[in-house]
Amino acid sequence: MAFSQEQLPELLLRYFRQQREIFGDGFVLSREKWEVLLHSLERGGPVPAGPIDPKKKAELLHQFYEQIKNCQRCPLGETRINFVFGVGDPDAKLMLIGEAPGKDEDEQGEPFVGRAGQLLNKILKAIQFEREEVYIANILKCRPPNNRDPLPDEVAQCEPYLHRQIEIIQPKLILALGRVAGQTLLKTKTSLANLRGRLHEYRGIPLIVTFHPAALLRNPQFKRPTWYDVQYARKVYDAIMAGRPPETISYPSP
Ligand code: URA
Ligand code: URA
Repeated sequence: MAFSQEQLPELLLRYFRQQREIFGDGFVLSREKWEVLLHSLERGGPVPAGPIDPKKKAELLHQFYEQIKNCQRCPLGETRINFVFGVGDPDAKLMLIGEAPGKDEDEQGEPFVGRAGQLLNKILKAIQFEREEVYIANILKCRPPNNRDPLPDEVAQCEPYLHRQIEIIQPKLILALGRVAGQTLLKTKTSLANLRGRLHEYRGIPLIVTFHPAALLRNPQFKRPTWYDVQYARKVYDAIMAGRPPETISYPSP
């Protein structure tokens, strides 16, 4: 069978996954070695240890993009116009994570450029952030048909890409936009209502969940609570950047 260099990690990963499925975690490698191996293949590189030189991050992200931009791991690869990787400062301290590209994003190849994106830019401005200084990405890199919710298998195939982006960017705070992003990152089925208003953690990185901007367009009554959420996020961010424990920040009471 002929395959290119680029396909090798993909093929190996599929092979190892099959083997693990058939023989279980104890097959050939110990559980820890499986973790390291699969992590390395899924993320497209070794697990970075310690801080990454900010000057290297743009290059690492670009290399990673080149590696995954033709992804066909799930059927969305066939229907997409563009693979929507992410946009913003590779050394951003605040990272925003949405659900999946919509029509405009699919057409333009950039996250949050449609109506929800315009609103997101305003929300960012309201808490003194410029779009350019944060990093914006989605759980899924390709648009689901008719903007339906991501399927579990699509998330399973795509989420490792986001993990790798987070590993490179090393943000100090993550703002998850909407139920899908929050539940996916936190591996929970807890409702959005119960995820909002408190500090979570994603692999050691503080994380806050708020409404999805598209939900605000459909339900203007979500705008006020979102305002409290993002003010909270700003305060938590400021605390983290000042070296103060973010747990001490209380949610602003209406
Ligand atoms: N909605 C999302 O979740 N992400 C986008 O990029 C655009 C709309
Ligand atoms: N449903 C979602 O998926 N996101 C929201 O922000 C609100 C409702």
